[in-house]
Amino acid sequence: MARPQHFGYFFARGFGPQAWGRDDWHWGYDWTRPDMYQQSVRTLEQAGLDLVIAEDAISLGNPATLDLRIASAYGGPKHDPLLLAPFLFAATERIGVAPTINAGITPPYLGARQIATLAHLSGERLGINLVTDVGSARHAGLDPLTHDAAYDRAEEWLAVVRRLWHSWGDRGYVGHVRGSDPGERDWHFADGTALDAFEHDGEYFRAAGPLNALPLAADPVVVSPGGSGRGLAFAGTHSDVQLALAPLTAEAVRAYRARIVDAAASAGRDAASIRILFVLKPELAGSAAEADRLVEAARHPSDADLQAIAIGQSSDLETDLLSLDLDRPIPSGYFGDHVSQGSIRGLLGDTPDAPLRDLLARKARKGRLSDRSGFVGTADELADFIEELGDDAHNDGFIFSGDLHPASVSRMFGDLVPVLRRRGILRGERAPGGLRQNLFDF
Ligand SMILES: Cc1cc2nc3c(=O)[nH]c(=O)nc-3n(C[C@H](O)[C@H](O)[C@H](O)COP(=O)(O)O)c2cc1C
Repeated sequence: MARPQHFGYFFARGFGPQAWGRDDWHWGYDWTRPDMYQQSVRTLEQAGLDLVIAEDAISLGNPATLDLRIASAYGGPKHDPLLLAPFLFAATERIGVAPTINAGITPPYLGARQIATLAHLSGERLGINLVTDVGSARHAGLDPLTHDAAYDRAEEWLAVVRRLWHSWGDRGYVGHVRGSDPGERDWHFADGTALDAFEHDGEYFRAAGPLNALPLAADPVVVSPGGSGRGLAFAGTHSDVQLALAPLTAEAVRAYRARIVDAAASAGRDAASIRILFVLKPELAGSAAEADRLVEAARHPSDADLQAIAIGQSSDLETDLLSLDLDRPIPSGYFGDHVSQGSIRGLLGDTPDAPLRDLLARKARKGRLSDRSGFVGTADELADFIEELGDDAHNDGFIFSGDLHPASVSRMFGDLVPVLRRRGILRGERAPGGLRQNLFDF
C-alpha cells in the first residue's frame, strides 16, 4: 500500500462571485446565499478530505484602482469566511473548516472568543488560516506595517489569543452537580478564583483575560501560508499546518520540508507536530488523449483567453493591463510602488521586454502530469504523481485549489477519489474527534 496522505481544499481567491458572468455558472446559483457553498463542502466531506480552507482578503485594494478589482467580479466583493463557516458546519458532520483571519485586523480578545465559540459549536472542527497581509490596514485605522513587523504582530496576536483560550486553566470549569432535591442541591459550575485575569500590554495589542467562553479540549488548528524565511519560521514555531507553495518536484518538496523541520527544531518543536500540505491545482481529463488536447489547445490561446488572464492579472497586480497593446512590451515604470516585486516577477519572468501577448500566453500554457511538465492529466496519472511525492519526499498531503462550483468539485474528485482510496492514499474513515485528531492520527 502507498503512504496515506492528508487532503484539503482551498476556496481560492474571489471564491463566490468570481465567476459572475461566466456561462457555466448560470445554474441558478446565487453566491450571496449559503446553498452553493454548502453543496460543495458536502461533496468534499464525502470525498474524505480533512479540511476546507477559505481564503480572504478583507480589502478591495488600492482606492485608485478599485475598478480593476471589481469590474469583472474578480477580487470581490465576498463574504467574511469566519461568518460563512457556521453555515458550512451546519451542512456537514466531520470535515474541518479553516477560515482566513488577518491577525492585524481582528482584535485578539474578539478573535479568541469568536474562534472558541465556533470551535465548540462545530465539535472542534474549526481551524484558522492566519495571514499577515498589510494592505488592508487602513480599513481598521491602522498604519501599514513592514512584512516582518506583520509577522511580529501575528506572533503577539497568537500568544494573546492562546493565553485567552487557556485563561480558565485546568480548574476553572468545575461542572459539579450533586443531588436532585432542589433544597439540598449542591452545584458548582465554575471556580472564578482559578481564572487568569491577566493584563497584556504589548507592542501591538492591549488585552485582558479571562475569556468569556468555555475552555476548549484542544486549541483550534492554526494554518499559516507564508513562504518567506520569516513565514517558514512562523510556521515552525506556531503552526499546526503549513499551506505550502513550491514547485512540485520531489527535490523541491524535500527541501521545503527540511526548512520547516529546521524552523521547528530552532523553536524546540518536533516537526511531526506540523502537517505540511502543498497547494495543487490539477486539471483532470477523462483520458490521456483529452489531456493531450487540452495542453495543445493552451499553446494557442485565443484573444478571449488572453483577455481572461489579463483580467485576473490586472486585478492581482492592481495595474490596468487591459488597455495596453497586446503586441508591445509593458511600458517601463508602468507598475506602481504598491505592487509587490514578486507578483511583477511572476508576470514578467526574465523577459520584461517581451510583448504582453507572450507574457499572457506563458501564463495560459499548461503541461501534462505524465511527463511532469504540468498538472493536466487523468485521475490515474494524478494519483501516480501524488503517490510518488508521498513515497519519495515523505509528503504529508495536498490542498487542492479551485473555485467552489459544485460541478468543478465533482469533476476534480469524481474519478480521483476511488483511485486514491484503492491505493490507500486517501482514507475512507476519519478518526473520531475534531480537525486536530484527523490531521494527526497518522
Ligand atoms: C498559499 C497562500 C495563501 C494565502 N492566502 C491568503 C489569504 O487568504 N489572505 C491574505 O490576506 N493573505 C494570504 N496569503 C498571504 C500571506 O498571509 C502573506 O501575507 C504573504 O504570503 C507574504 O508573506 P510571505 O512573504 O511569508 O509569503 C497567502 C499566501 C499564500 C502563499
